[in-house]
Amino acid sequence: MYYYDPQGRPIIDGASGLFASAAGHGRPEIADAVGRQLRELDFTSSFYRSHPLAFAAAHAIAQLTPERLDRIFFVNSGSEAVDTAMKIILAYHRARGEGQRTVFISRERAYHGVNFGGVSLSGLVNNRRAFAGVATPAPLLRHTWRAQSAFSHGQPDTGANLADDLQRLIDVHGAENIAAVFVEPIAGSTGVLVPPRGYLERLRAICDAHGLLLVFDEVITGFGRTGSAFAAQSFKVRPDLITMAKAITNGAQPMGAVAVDRRIHDQVVHSAAEDSIELFHGYTWSAHPAACAACVAALDIYAREQLFARGAELSAYFQKRLFSLADLPVVTDIRAYGLLAGVELAPDGKPGQRGYRLQKELFDAGLHLKTTGDVAILAPALVAEPAHIDEIVDVLRRVLECHSA
Ligand SMILES: Cc1ncc(COP(=O)(O)O)c(C=O)c1O
Repeated sequence: MYYYDPQGRPIIDGASGLFASAAGHGRPEIADAVGRQLRELDFTSSFYRSHPLAFAAAHAIAQLTPERLDRIFFVNSGSEAVDTAMKIILAYHRARGEGQRTVFISRERAYHGVNFGGVSLSGLVNNRRAFAGVATPAPLLRHTWRAQSAFSHGQPDTGANLADDLQRLIDVHGAENIAAVFVEPIAGSTGVLVPPRGYLERLRAICDAHGLLLVFDEVITGFGRTGSAFAAQSFKVRPDLITMAKAITNGAQPMGAVAVDRRIHDQVVHSAAEDSIELFHGYTWSAHPAACAACVAALDIYAREQLFARGAELSAYFQKRLFSLADLPVVTDIRAYGLLAGVELAPDGKPGQRGYRLQKELFDAGLHLKTTGDVAILAPALVAEPAHIDEIVDVLRRVLECHSA
């Protein structure tokens, strides 16, 4: 739960590093598994063939994904997972004879990584501004934050109708031209926007009515963050593809993956000509043996220690403590689901200035977390104890009190 600076000062980790170290830092089981694997087989390519641990890792992930999303494509980051999902989707539509479906729909304030596919889906202008011309901006749904839902516990009760934006974009672009809709079930990097009740269900229904695929980008929400393996299960909405990374190896090795519905996989694979490559896509490091070892070891810890259930149990205490900050005048909203939360602060001058300062002040006070703009984002490890939550919230209060004076 702690980092240590060069002088040995402990800094409690309120963000699982960057949403990655769900089982805490320095887990010897993972280090040993990676070391063992490197001594046995340091590298083999996943082109043409693979190695047993790649299949074991795919199998372990498929045990956690929603039913039928059990075809796993390995990559090395969340950004690669997003671009890979886009390519699989384009290949799928083409294989079905609907190659004109090339439009991807995303959402304001979305973050889908830094590669060109993810940048084209970005709903954050700063991630796109300098790269105009190459990344085609996707049509965007409105984001789901609404002032009247401030300080909602869990999912806001109203706002499901924002999903009807999808119908409007379909009317503008033509359903027959749209490939898929990408959403983070909880928009994470922008400051934790929890979907209103019924919103994701409505997106699913509109996608189904028009033959659009629905992708959940679960790079942050995957592996227990929301109390289930994936947010798809927490919210009981089944996407067609899930992108994941970060906690897939507990952060100990770079790795990402795309879980694909069997029917999509089969369409692409069975449409390929005999004796030819089915999907012209893949990375040298796809299913790297060391990453697969870390993945299998991490998922084993999650299962053995029942960390998803443990995180779900801790989340009530986490949220209770966090909402106790609502009395501070500088706090303008608190949003939380599972062990993921955003504390929004009144801007001080230029938007983002306060958050930038806060980040440094918290680190000096002994707390690591992420800030985006003027939002402090918390995502403690699933192994955290209530005492760790107390420490995180106490430091946050102490520092925010100075901002409220
Ligand atoms: C939802 C989402 N998608 C994609 C990414 C990109 O992942 P990476 O930084 O591993 O490329 C992130 C990173 O935070 C993310 O939150």
